[in-house]
Amino acid sequence: MDYQDLMNKAKEVSGKAYAPYSKFSVGACLLTPDGKFYHGCNFENSSFGLTICAERNAVGSAVADGEQKISAIAIYSPNQDNCLPCGACRQVLYEFRGENGVDVITEINGQLKIYKLDELLPGGFDL
Ligand code: THU
Repeated sequence: MDYQDLMNKAKEVSGKAYAPYSKFSVGACLLTPDGKFYHGCNFENSSFGLTICAERNAVGSAVADGEQKISAIAIYSPNQDNCLPCGACRQVLYEFRGENGVDVITEINGQLKIYKLDELLPGGFDL
């Protein structure tokens, strides 16, 4: 699966987002070092603070399937070009970073843009 495939899946799953309050839909699809992929969308709640972001939903699916390393994640919102992960999701991705870090992929004007998680979250927290 290449990064365009990853983005296509993120787009598809953004259509499943449950975002009646913000009306901001997000889809994410992550890749593990051994080529497995997992997707997630955001889902909101009447109690706003319980909202789960698309990225963390995808990470939860990977972990529940026994995966603990992430090499890349594509993120898409129909509402915003270059939809980047929030600070909380950056730290969650950091926890499961692969040997070569995590490539974070967004889309700008239909073109893929690739960041390294290290540049988006310098000095992530480790216990
Ligand atoms: N959201 C995500 O799914 N991922 C992010 O990294 C940023 C924000 C969601 C949460 C909420 O449902 C909506 O976008 C607006 O904040």
